[in-house]
Amino acid sequence: MADAEKGEASATSSVAESIRSVTCTAPVNIAVIKYWGKRNEELILPTNDSLSATLDQDHLKSTTTAAISPDFEKDRIWLNGKEESIKNPRLQNCLKEIKRRARKRKGNEDVTSGLLNWHIHICSENNFPTAAGLASSAAGYACLVYSLAKLYGIQGDVTDIARQGSGSACRSIHGGFVQWVTGQRADGTDSRGLLVADEKHWPEMRILVLVVSDQKKHTGSTVGMRNSVKTSEFLNFRVEHEVPQRMKDILEAIKEKDYATFAELTMKDSNQMHAVCLDTYPPISYMNDTSRKIVRLIHEYNDHKGKISAAYTFDAGPNAVLYLLEENVSEVLSLIKNYFPPKENNEGNSFIRGFKEDSAKELSQELKSSISLEPSQGAIKYVISTRIGPGAQVVEDKDASLLNENGMPKKQL
Ligand code: DP6
Repeated sequence: MADAEKGEASATSSVAESIRSVTCTAPVNIAVIKYWGKRNEELILPTNDSLSATLDQDHLKSTTTAAISPDFEKDRIWLNGKEESIKNPRLQNCLKEIKRRARKRKGNEDVTSGLLNWHIHICSENNFPTAAGLASSAAGYACLVYSLAKLYGIQGDVTDIARQGSGSACRSIHGGFVQWVTGQRADGTDSRGLLVADEKHWPEMRILVLVVSDQKKHTGSTVGMRNSVKTSEFLNFRVEHEVPQRMKDILEAIKEKDYATFAELTMKDSNQMHAVCLDTYPPISYMNDTSRKIVRLIHEYNDHKGKISAAYTFDAGPNAVLYLLEENVSEVLSLIKNYFPPKENNEGNSFIRGFKEDSAKELSQELKSSISLEPSQGAIKYVISTRIGPGAQVVEDKDASLLNENGMPKKQL
């Protein structure tokens, strides 16, 4: 994160002469060992370790500009062009903790100058659909906390603060593969995101996000996991008897770049999280018919190949995320196009986004005859083809600021 570390908040000349602002970006992460359950709701402490890969910000990212000025009359926040309540308790917790750390910093002139009491304007946007099961809260809170840390000059690890915005956000501060360690302490200070391997470690690893729905999910993950903790015995079994060994095995698989083991654990852990959801009372089902067809397609594809060549995982929504090696991307994209062809009138939008891939690989007759699915036209809206990328970073380009020289959003709905 060398680039990120060198970034400092800067004063821009403006109507409000003394405005101080910073703009940062943060990535989406997709867990392969899932976080599903809290042992402490207030501090957002998980029941188990989890592990994710960070996706490339070229295709999926949050951007946040945070600015303070003595001329601002109150604290305000805009998300995706719409003003939201600044009173959100999770946001307030993050802001409080950042300011507490700023006050603790030895010789911090901002304390004596009263700058910590200036009001703040925060503006944030995603370049992907919010609340579509694409971990938007993770990227959003990681970006918010990282921006605040830069704005107030806080050094060191802030993953434990991001965690208090949204648990999975602590994994979006770093790039590459990231483990969220449960921790032992009651105050949560040891429950953090740890870098396991950076984004250069496994360059052949690729990711396809299959967007089945870009609608808001019906049961959010916070409520869903709360109900699972309350009612699912299977969740306890998973936490005690399954996750610890899985974590060890997947860490080893990442280290050794052992795709087959990584992929099998990824699929099994997704299935287990969704089994816990079904064991919840009343049951929660995030996966829909299309999700289940994708699962079948991937297993039939792997059987045809004679080895695991693609792995699926699902979060709190019907969208699938596939982890696969570069050598299979073209074939898998052709497979998806064949069994989930886009609607003819796709409103001029491209079906495959992100990397411009060759998705025209001819599927062999043997492969086609080993797939038992009928094509479902329009069931997958689009595919984002991406890879593993770096963590949160400062944007030095002043034009990238989401706030104008008066500290107001450049774009508003
Ligand atoms: C299914 O981090 O969104 O994506 O901590 O309540 O904000 P809160 O939940 P959140 O949960 C993410 C759950 C998941 C699995 C994962 O990312 O590990």
